[in-house]
Amino acid sequence: MKPMLQTLTLPDTADAIAQGAAILRRGGLLALPTETVYGLAGDACNDHAVAGIFAAKGRPSFNPLIVHLAALEQVPDYADLTPLARQLATAFWPGPLTLVLPLRAGSPLSPLVTAGLDSVAIRLPAHPTARELLTAFGGGIAAPSANPSGRISPVTARHVLDGLDGRIDAVIDADACNVGVESTILDARGDTPRLLREGGLAGETIEEALGTRLLPPETSGVTAPGQLASHYAPRGRVRLDVTKPDPAETYIGFGPTEGAALTLSASGDLTEAAANLFHILHKADAEAGPEGSIAFAPIPEIGLGRAINDRLRRAAAPR
Ligand code: TXA
Ligand code: MG
Repeated sequence: MKPMLQTLTLPDTADAIAQGAAILRRGGLLALPTETVYGLAGDACNDHAVAGIFAAKGRPSFNPLIVHLAALEQVPDYADLTPLARQLATAFWPGPLTLVLPLRAGSPLSPLVTAGLDSVAIRLPAHPTARELLTAFGGGIAAPSANPSGRISPVTARHVLDGLDGRIDAVIDADACNVGVESTILDARGDTPRLLREGGLAGETIEEALGTRLLPPETSGVTAPGQLASHYAPRGRVRLDVTKPDPAETYIGFGPTEGAALTLSASGDLTEAAANLFHILHKADAEAGPEGSIAFAPIPEIGLGRAINDRLRRAAAPR
C-alpha cells in the first residue's frame, strides 16, 4: 500500500481547475465530477499515474480504463475514428456515451490504460467542470469511477472521500452528477454498434438516431472486461423486484410504492430514478449497515431502466 496522502477538497472554481490540471501534469490523482459519476483522473499517457489509479481503487489490472478527451479533434491522436464512431460522436458527444475504437498504432497512451488490448474506450464528457479540466490539461485523462473496486459508484465529493480519502491527491467538490449512472459503452469498430454496457444514454435513443438495432453484448464471456457479476455493492444484502418487503428491510420504491422508506422516483420517472440511484444506494447502505438488507421495488426494463436494473443486479449478485 502507498503511503497515505493528504487529500485536498477543492472548490469548483477557475483557480481549482488550474490546480487540478497541475496535479494531473505532475502525475497525481484527482477525482472530478462528470455528468454520469465522479471519475478518478490521471494522465492517460503517464504509466506512474495510471498505475496509481489501479492501486488507489484496488482495481484488477486486466480491466481497461476509459480515456476522456475535450474535443473530437483529439481522437485520432489515440484511436481510429471509424465512420460509425464519427456518426455516433456527432449525435451524442459530449455526453454519457463511450466508444470502443481501434487503438492507433504508436499511440502515446500508457499500455496500462488499455490493459494490453488493441482497442481503446473513449468519451467526451458533458459536465462543464470536467470539460474545463480536460481543456486546461490538454491531453487524454484516464478515469474510472472514483470508488474502491466493486463498491457503489460515487456521485458526490463526500462519496469519493468515503472510499478514497488518503489515497488520492484531491477531489473537486462540484454540483452532483445529473445523469447518475455510468456512460453507455458501444463497440464502434465495425459497421454495426455492439452494446457492451447499458448506461446513461438509452439504447433506444441510439437506435432511433442511427435507424439500426444495436447488437447485443457477446454472450460468450465478458466483453467489457470490467463487467464483473458483483459490483456496485453495498455492505448488506440486496433483494430485487420486491413487492412485499420484510419489516426489517430498507425498502426502496419506484412510482407509488407502499411501505417504501426511500424512493428512486415517486412519480415513476426513469431519468429521475437513474439520477437518484447511487445517492439512494449510499443512503440505504448507511441505513441498513453491514448486517442489514435493502429491497428494491420492480423497475421497468425499458430505456434507462435497463441501466438501473443492470447496476441493481450486480449490487445484488453473490460475492
Ligand atoms: O460514465 C463513465 O463511463 C465513468 C465516468 C467517470 O466517465 N467511468 C466509468 O469507468 O464508468 P469504469 O472504469 O468504472 O468503467 C469502464 C468500463 C469497464 O467495464 C471496462 O472494462 C470498459 O469500460 N472498457 C474500457 N476499455 C475497454 C475496451 N478497450 N474494450 C472493452 N471495454 C472496455
Ligand atoms: Mg466503475
